[in-house]
Amino acid sequence: IKKIGVFTSGGDAPGMNAAIRSVVRTCAYLKIECVGIYRGYQGMIEGDFKTLDARSVNNIINKGGTILKSARCDDFRTKEGRKKAYDQLTKEGIDAFVVIGGNGSFTGALLFTQEYDFPVIGIPGTIDNDILGSSFTIGFDTAINTVVDAIDKIRDTASSHNRLFFVEVMGRDVGHIALNAGVGAGAEEILIPEQNLGLERLLDSLKRSKASGKSSSIVIVAEGDKIGKNVFELKEYVEEHLPIYDVRVSVLGHMQRGGNPTCYDRVLASRMGVKAVESILEGKSNLMVGIRDTNLVLTPLAEAIKAHTEIDEELIRVSDIMTT
Ligand code: F6P
Repeated sequence: IKKIGVFTSGGDAPGMNAAIRSVVRTCAYLKIECVGIYRGYQGMIEGDFKTLDARSVNNIINKGGTILKSARCDDFRTKEGRKKAYDQLTKEGIDAFVVIGGNGSFTGALLFTQEYDFPVIGIPGTIDNDILGSSFTIGFDTAINTVVDAIDKIRDTASSHNRLFFVEVMGRDVGHIALNAGVGAGAEEILIPEQNLGLERLLDSLKRSKASGKSSSIVIVAEGDKIGKNVFELKEYVEEHLPIYDVRVSVLGHMQRGGNPTCYDRVLASRMGVKAVESILEGKSNLMVGIRDTNLVLTPLAEAIKAHTEIDEELIRVSDIMTT
């Protein structure tokens, strides 16, 4: 292996830059060439490449977003698209790549390696924390801290006006952001896709909360939640069935994907970048670097993309007790 490509793909996540920096610097340390591939698979197909050395990644460890840009690429889903990508990589002399992204990005990488027997290692970068084989993905810690900050602020105004707020958070089909940030911000209710307790229970809980003397409430709603109503419909529903509440809605949206990465995400990204490059040089491929307990572990990409992560049942219990 003489030249390793690195790129970010799918939704961006804080800490992706720290991961890029780590891959580039590990290559420099081991005297291997490193090429940045811009705009994920789209840039790979178009040959949007730039050689990166240790100094190309100065002052980015603290920055959100990704200096290599990111994209969700439809062309790479086709055989023709992947052939074009392979031709571009060969032309540039890139003989392995590190993909930093989520499920969709790993699925593309897997198809590619199956067709071209090309060495690939994945690094999980997504705020959703929905990758099997890693307890944490790069960006998750920053995102939950961003959500906690936002909810602290919403609570100030909620309590000044004695209001109930439905706060929608990201997470795609899973509730890790909602559950963790909800517990961290002391939310009164957390609605997650993994546990649909229904509308009746929500009303009961809000009634109890009011009766127990709480004047304001925060209900966190994961965007993938299965209660059957979005936050705006929930507002109408509660206003209709429980007029004691003055209700407002806040959809946090893409601000959850931005911002300077936390120290945890920077360290995790730095460790994973080193492990990814070292794994390629050890002849490994088709694997994703993950973290379990405090150790880095490798999981086959085919496993990593297979299923949803499990929600933390103990944390659900803690949340239930805290909302008493
Ligand atoms: O996967 C990250 C994520 O932010 C999800 O939480 C969200 O559902 C989705 O991406 C939003 O995607 P887009 O930025 O394409 O609107």
